[in-house]
Amino acid sequence: MALPGDSLIWALVSTSVAIIALLLRLVQRYLALRHIPGPRLAAWSDLWLFKQRCQYGPLVRYGPKRVLFSDPTYITTVYGTTKVYDKAPYYNVPVVKINGKLTRSFATIRDEKLMTAIKRQIAFAFSTTSMRDFESHVDLTVENFMSKLRRKEGVVDLVPMFAFYAFDSICRLAFSDALGKQSEAEAVMKGAKERFKYWFRWGALPETEELLFKNRFIKGVGTPNALGQLAQGRFADRLEKGGAGVHHDLLDRLFQAQKADPSTFNPALMIGISISMIHAGSETTGHTLANVFWELLKNPQHYQRLVSEVRGASWSSPPTLAEARRFPFIEACVKEAGRMHNLFADPLERVVPASGLQIGDTFLPGGTIIAANTRALSFNTSIFGADAHQFNPERFLNASPTQLATMERTNFHFSQGKRNCIGMNIAWMEMLKLIPAIVKEFDIELANPYAVREEDTWVMNYTRDLHVKLSPLDGKTG
Ligand code: HEM
Repeated sequence: MALPGDSLIWALVSTSVAIIALLLRLVQRYLALRHIPGPRLAAWSDLWLFKQRCQYGPLVRYGPKRVLFSDPTYITTVYGTTKVYDKAPYYNVPVVKINGKLTRSFATIRDEKLMTAIKRQIAFAFSTTSMRDFESHVDLTVENFMSKLRRKEGVVDLVPMFAFYAFDSICRLAFSDALGKQSEAEAVMKGAKERFKYWFRWGALPETEELLFKNRFIKGVGTPNALGQLAQGRFADRLEKGGAGVHHDLLDRLFQAQKADPSTFNPALMIGISISMIHAGSETTGHTLANVFWELLKNPQHYQRLVSEVRGASWSSPPTLAEARRFPFIEACVKEAGRMHNLFADPLERVVPASGLQIGDTFLPGGTIIAANTRALSFNTSIFGADAHQFNPERFLNASPTQLATMERTNFHFSQGKRNCIGMNIAWMEMLKLIPAIVKEFDIELANPYAVREEDTWVMNYTRDLHVKLSPLDGKTG
């Protein structure tokens, strides 16, 4: 028979064993990468919020199992196209429940075999060639944007306008429809932001997030918000209309892919990809546009060059993609603003394969989480020149072919390797059509020439506002 003191002793013994096991685990994690410099707290806990990434040299430990690298030589190894390093558990956090089932979006798929099978069917839909098929969708949204801008008076904040433009464009491209009402658009944009905020909050602790919220007892968290509901709704509508062949858009390409490979393209995957297209493809483009204009307006000599190139040429309104491609200076401005203001604030984490990775004199064991120190790489003076801290789009025009290739390989605005941005041709089309359309019709200046750029950070770095004064060249408004 157990004595009354027995249960107390057992409780003490098991608590002590648990504490010792935890301490051993912490020490083991600490020792694994102790040869890599970094903030002291980062060696013990993922809760460490790491801000000063540049001060510890080419390798920095920013969590017990997490390392940032800033030697450009290793970009093609970590972000490869053939031997691909898997995405890290960080990408589990924004996975949502759809119809009770955890559903990965495109960006959160961590199984590279599955990703290859998906890309086999749909990569072409995102190619430069396919963009010609989608141009008319974007032309409509450029016209909508311009007519809104013509009606504006006084000081205008371009940030929400660009965000809406990008949202409207991607919804037309993806589903052949505009977001009917402004209220619907706002709810979806709010949902997209919430998803990023949730990811930002839990990104350092994906295992804990899974334990707490992705279990069958918790219902509320992980269910789709307005963003997921939009994707789900558009998928259901299309299915009702007959699926493939009804419209000329990205959702149609998914239904075509389903015909070719039905076992991969199940409804959950198709909804997941649709979520990614809207989420990854809307405010990213909006905020890149805001950053381009911010830098141009702060650097009048470059703004003037852009104005004279755009106004000195003749082109249709809005420009066709082929015409827009004849403005290499605009492309250079987008690349330069993207380099200086990488939108992704969080590290793009990958997992070192079982064989480990040798970086210089340092060996990283398999399972280490590794990411590019994008801020250090973007401002690397040996790659971008001594003026790397200044906005100078001409660096992309004056570089030798070898220098240019190195700069392109180091620019993380659209990331690198197999898992880089699949939608970048869409983003380019939206930006290359809109920028000349605005500059042709309006003189623009900052409402406050002394304004300081402010950012909100949640996974992404987003410009808070961009208040400008617009003067129509024909002297009229409305
Ligand atoms: C200027 C605008 C854009 C920027 C700066 C941007 C940036 C990025 C970056 C940095 C990544 C890599 C994320 C990672 O590794 O975790 C990414 C991935 C992705 N982007 Fe974009 N993006 C833009 C526009 C778009 C558009 C218009 C789409 C529309 C379809 C899109 C769809 C995606 C998708 C689906 C992924 C996930 C790719 C994968 O995981 O393999 N993006 N984007």
